[in-house]
Amino acid sequence: MRAFRESFARFIMPYKFAIDEIATKVSILREEFSELHDYNPIEHISTRLKSADSIEQKIARKQCAPSFDAIRESVTDIAGVRIVCSFVSDVYHVFSMLTEQEDLRVLTVKDYISTPKPNGYKSLHVIVEVPVFLSEGSVRVPVEVQLRTVAMDFWASLEHKIYYKYDGVVPAQLLADLTTAAVTANSLDVTMEKLHQQVKNGDADGSRPIAV
Ligand code: GTP
Ligand code: MG
Repeated sequence: MRAFRESFARFIMPYKFAIDEIATKVSILREEFSELHDYNPIEHISTRLKSADSIEQKIARKQCAPSFDAIRESVTDIAGVRIVCSFVSDVYHVFSMLTEQEDLRVLTVKDYISTPKPNGYKSLHVIVEVPVFLSEGSVRVPVEVQLRTVAMDFWASLEHKIYYKYDGVVPAQLLADLTTAAVTANSLDVTMEKLHQQVKNGDADGSRPIAV
């Protein structure tokens, strides 16, 4: 057991460092953007390292062999970073600023904003590989980055809580209400984006542009 714990600690460490790398990149973008443009496109960022229990559940579900090599190959969301932006345009802007960095390699992109999930879930998911420099050389580590607006985040966190509370079997009425809430969240995003563009372009009242 002790040996396993030691190997697990060694296995998980690069994922933690990869999260740190991405979090640093995001805070650099955030700070530089605020300095140069007097505007911050990132509301907040959160990170999570998948627990051993949750890795175990995932490999059971994916029928992946219980070896570190197999897990490394098939579980790409051990390191997770969530970036929450104010506006939909910021989500895509931050996505480009991040994924165009030359030390990152984009493995997959899933755009659930342009194509939401049937339940209404919206977010932009990207799995990037980031180099992590260790004492014995460098390794490339996958990180799942989820980008979404505040409204999408609000909806997703409530949906997640409900899903867990009902252990995946959510009553039909609640599901229908959640779908309605997703439509409402989307319409808030559309309205906020329009207002934001109007103020940015200064065409709201003909006054000079101001940063919002
Ligand atoms: P997982 O096996 O769950 O990782 O799904 P996947 O490999 O098909 O990837 P996908 O990009 O669809 O989802 C990855 C992650 O996005 C999940 O672990 C959740 O954090 C989030 N997510 C995806 N779908 C939903 C959803 O319907 N509701 C909420 N709240 N979160 C979701
Ligand atoms: Mg996942």
